[in-house]
Amino acid sequence: MCTHFAHRHRPRGNDSFSSTISRPVFLSQPLVIWPFCEYSPRQYLLSPSFLSCRVAMFEHIPVAPPDSILGLNEVFEKDPRPEKINLTVGVFKDEQGRTPILESVRQAERRIIEHQKTKSYLPIEGGADFNRLVVDLVLGDSVDAARVAAAHTPGGTGALRAGADTIARHFPNTRIWLSNPTWANHIAVFQAAGMHPHLYTYLNHDRTGLDFDGMMSDLRQRGTAGDFVLLHVCCHNPTGIDPTPDQWHAISELMAEKKMIPWLDFAYQGFGDGLTEDAAALRTLLTHHPEMVICGSFSKNFGLYSERVGALLMVSASPASTPAVLSQVRSSIRTNYSNPPRHGESIVATILGDAELTALWKTEVNAMRSRIATMRQSFIEGMRGLGRDFSFLGTQKGMFSYTGLNAMQADWLKTERAIYIVGTGRINVAGLSTSTLPRLCQAIDEACSLAG
Ligand code: LMR
Repeated sequence: MCTHFAHRHRPRGNDSFSSTISRPVFLSQPLVIWPFCEYSPRQYLLSPSFLSCRVAMFEHIPVAPPDSILGLNEVFEKDPRPEKINLTVGVFKDEQGRTPILESVRQAERRIIEHQKTKSYLPIEGGADFNRLVVDLVLGDSVDAARVAAAHTPGGTGALRAGADTIARHFPNTRIWLSNPTWANHIAVFQAAGMHPHLYTYLNHDRTGLDFDGMMSDLRQRGTAGDFVLLHVCCHNPTGIDPTPDQWHAISELMAEKKMIPWLDFAYQGFGDGLTEDAAALRTLLTHHPEMVICGSFSKNFGLYSERVGALLMVSASPASTPAVLSQVRSSIRTNYSNPPRHGESIVATILGDAELTALWKTEVNAMRSRIATMRQSFIEGMRGLGRDFSFLGTQKGMFSYTGLNAMQADWLKTERAIYIVGTGRINVAGLSTSTLPRLCQAIDEACSLAG
């Protein structure tokens, strides 16, 4: 037995881990080993139990909490009840409950398979065509493309992380303001990169609309120059509640006055009012802000969830800054995942680079948006039929809505009715279907009674 490593018999968990940790032992660069008790490097290295003790290090890794969205989705997958309904993770579903491959994507893939000549590495920031087309899709002619350092990232999350790494490296301890609530992964991503997340008020008291005054007051009183403010350009995740155009204007002006910098999460372009319409807030912000970070995702609007395609766009005040910014973005990417995967980016570039495929894709985005809007209305009507007023969902946009249900009610729905929604009360409206709606409304009506 490794007697001098008594930590092996201590209870697991963070506390016991940190209380026994001493200091790193530098064996030879770059190998570093952390012993868990007070031993000199020499004693440690001479220990006959060196090897077994090294193995025992992993016994001290505590179990991480499950992801509040993807973890629930995994539980759903294992649920044997045939009538189960999944409204957790944000994926589009058709009336049959399938997440289809878009026809524009299928056609692009056929062309790629026929014409692609290599699987060699892409540039660190992704292909030039992809980046040019994406800058055009997201920014149009509202900004000189020479001011934009663009990179293909694995999904919107990859963009958030590459951007955060880049900022944190050059501006340590930078603060970023996030809406309360925000996407469940935002805080963890910014923290992991070394930025300091803070929350600004977003939801009103009854959780049905925007607390605009609260939001403005937080930014005015607590924000300082050089802070970033994360804003969801459209289809706020998780609430579906977006500011009005006038409110966007006021937010943008206030941030400019305070010298706070926009950090835009743009994951749902096309799911609110339309591809161009959904970028309206971005254009408003550009009129007041010479610099900003934009994180785009093509998971939803191209249905490319598992292909991991997103984009980081860092807009500088002048084209002169772009090469340096891009070089630092490249450096962040290189130390994370080296360079991006090819297939998803080829699909997006093939579609956006071809007028016919672009037209087909736009039709498909419109159809997805229209189905979500129809399901949203059907849900409101279904609840009205049961005497419940959910009309506040009518002004919300995109895939998600806050139902106002709490964690206990969400848990009851899961346990008693095999209906999975996120514990915050968020539902994926794009997961509703005409056939499951009556049962869902009935169950939500019952869940509402539990609270009363
Ligand atoms: C969601 O919010 O459900 C999606 O953005 C998927 C995810 O990764 O959480």
